[in-house]
Amino acid sequence: MSTLSDLQQFAIPGLVELAAGHNNLPVVRIVGKHKGEIYLHGAHVTRWQPAGQSEVLWLSQKSMWEENKPIRGGVPICFPWFGPNKADAKLPAHGFARTLPWSLLSIAPQDDAVTVVLSLTSNTETKKLWPNDFVLKFRVTFGKTLTMSLELTNTGPAPLTAEEALHTYFSVADVHKVSVSGLTEIRYIDKTDNMSEKTQQGPITITSETDRVYLNTTTPTRLDDPSSNRKIEIAKEGSKNTVVWNPWIAKAKAMPDFGDEEWPHMICIETCNVAASSITLAPAQSHTMTALISVS
Ligand code: BG6
Repeated sequence: MSTLSDLQQFAIPGLVELAAGHNNLPVVRIVGKHKGEIYLHGAHVTRWQPAGQSEVLWLSQKSMWEENKPIRGGVPICFPWFGPNKADAKLPAHGFARTLPWSLLSIAPQDDAVTVVLSLTSNTETKKLWPNDFVLKFRVTFGKTLTMSLELTNTGPAPLTAEEALHTYFSVADVHKVSVSGLTEIRYIDKTDNMSEKTQQGPITITSETDRVYLNTTTPTRLDDPSSNRKIEIAKEGSKNTVVWNPWIAKAKAMPDFGDEEWPHMICIETCNVAASSITLAPAQSHTMTALISVS
């Protein structure tokens, strides 16, 4: 793993800092017009604040910041499975990409934005959990828009199948008052109701624990947060599922890295390919999934 002094070669005075973040984990900080932050641990985006806006992403005050644990909030990358592992429930939920150190490949400014590229390559540790050879590249542009592209390449001799999610936590003033539009008439699996399949009627409002996988949806979703006078658009490419999640009271209490009173201030809208929309790649094939987030 790179040390902080190795990483200093990527610094750009006045625009990009390489620093020791929480628990000394290395972090890239974008300190220009549009601000942002990405940890090498999990290639985890923890902050994004486009000019003139308050912080867009939610981050728990109780996040663990430990090397073998996921960060709670921001944008965890779920890969190569989503939720519990179907074959072995003892394996880490949402896969291993969010709990491993990634390599920093490049940092490049363009106009008033900055693009950071990180990678994760299969190794002895990943093969204990998942047998396939792969390279993941995560390109994040912190600008007026937050663009996050996850490219998966099959570097092994056999086909591979993987699930993936950009598990984005949004900061909202009051989740009771938000609405999520763009999913009307879309079928979804309701994880809070025995995985039953339903059809979305009108915009989504949050009135209890919400954990839904929307199926075959490729169009943008809009999060309207009237209490903070803000609308967020989540557009996407190469993604067929959108997950909407808020743990509500009991689930929040049960999670050690989630404050008991924090749930009204967040909602996850996740760009993903899961279950029947998992990605299958032949040897040497690649696939890219992109989330494009903008605020008005
Ligand atoms: C969501 C899942 O994406 O992530 C939920 O749909 C899950 O079922 C949530 O509870 C949080 O998962 P974790 O592993 O970060 O606690």
